[in-house]
Amino acid sequence: MRRVAVIGVGLTKFGEHWEKSIKELAAEAGIRALEDAGITGKDVEAIYGASMSSGRFANQEHLGALIADHCGLLPKPAVRVEAACASGGVAFREAYLAVASGAYDLVVVGGVEKMSEVPTEEATSILGAAGDYEWEAFNGATFPALYALMARRHMYEFGTTEEQLAAVAVKNHENACLNPFAQFQKKVTVEEVLSSPVVASPLKLLDCSPLSDGAAAVVLASEEKVRELKIDAPVWIAASAQASDTLALHDRTSLVSLTSTRRAAELAYKQAKLGPRDIDLAEVHDCFTIAEILAIEDLGFFKKGEGGKATIEGETARNAKISINTSGGLKACGHPVGATGIKQIVELVLQLRGEAGKRQVSDAEIGLAHNVGGSGATCVVHILRR
Ligand code: COA
Repeated sequence: MRRVAVIGVGLTKFGEHWEKSIKELAAEAGIRALEDAGITGKDVEAIYGASMSSGRFANQEHLGALIADHCGLLPKPAVRVEAACASGGVAFREAYLAVASGAYDLVVVGGVEKMSEVPTEEATSILGAAGDYEWEAFNGATFPALYALMARRHMYEFGTTEEQLAAVAVKNHENACLNPFAQFQKKVTVEEVLSSPVVASPLKLLDCSPLSDGAAAVVLASEEKVRELKIDAPVWIAASAQASDTLALHDRTSLVSLTSTRRAAELAYKQAKLGPRDIDLAEVHDCFTIAEILAIEDLGFFKKGEGGKATIEGETARNAKISINTSGGLKACGHPVGATGIKQIVELVLQLRGEAGKRQVSDAEIGLAHNVGGSGATCVVHILRR
């Protein structure tokens, strides 16, 4: 396999975009990524796009060719990848494999979702299709409800508290205040999280990621291409790993750990010849506050059961023991589901290039991205280094 680097990144602001269509969002992020890489569309050999449910959210399928057309990239091959909320991470991995294998030297990978076109009830039903429909959504188990079951069990087994869950939201909103692309650039307190309306007990409004519109894109290049283009600050992909698990929560052996995260992390650390202690910062999949606690434990940053305590004690804040979700995470930067996995990579690249502005992690050298689909049926882990 050849070495592959990220040489360009682009984002739209996350939030509500009534004024822009899904193809306009995708093009905005894609063009920014090409400009950042210092290349033009004619240099691109293929396009990988990610979206969880553009057909149901925005009445638009066939995104690959649509985006190639809208960005003036015809007749380049284009494909859309779907793996629920892990669509972005999986598209990034497929593109990485294509370049690493020698099939292409230069590709663009983008992710997009436009969720604000539908009312919340419909969005909840669309997102619910990422679980096992027959067992879960059909019987009324929404995604907040599934993660609430995990939270309850974590509280029962380890004494995790609602204040500790709230501390995840407080920290991520604080980081988002320093990110001009974030949906909620607004601080919240533990008290505000605890007194926000209950969505699925113990999870409240401010424990949830929001419904968002937005897009993210990156440009990947082979080592040969990096040299040819004289790229100053390539960020290398040190590992790419993916694992699957059951869609239905009741078929799992544990509710307090995602086996897919543990497996993908194990493979990624092995590939990169690194361990959890080597990671300076991580963008983890905090679709709900409990999800960040599960992630920081399953990725090996903290012992099982100690993630809540570590968070409330400030160990996951910027420049603390490990900087978690400096972008604001899904919680506060926003979660346009198909774009999230790519946005995580964009944040790592900005941090590793030293271009993250006020939220810069000092001496950031190695970053990890953790993207989950559904309640953990898909997990993708990438490790990037400068
Ligand atoms: N965090 C912080 N604030 C939020 C928020 C969130 N997750 N969701 C909405 N808000 C804010 C809105 O900005 C709005 O503020 P304003 O009154 O100052 O304008 C207010 O709360 C009400 O927003 P509204 O759009 O009416 O909320 P809603 O009830 O329609 O939706 C949720 C709230 C939590 C149900 C929705 O965000 C949701 O379903 N989140 C989970 C998404 C999900 O499951 N993703 C997949 C994960 S696997």
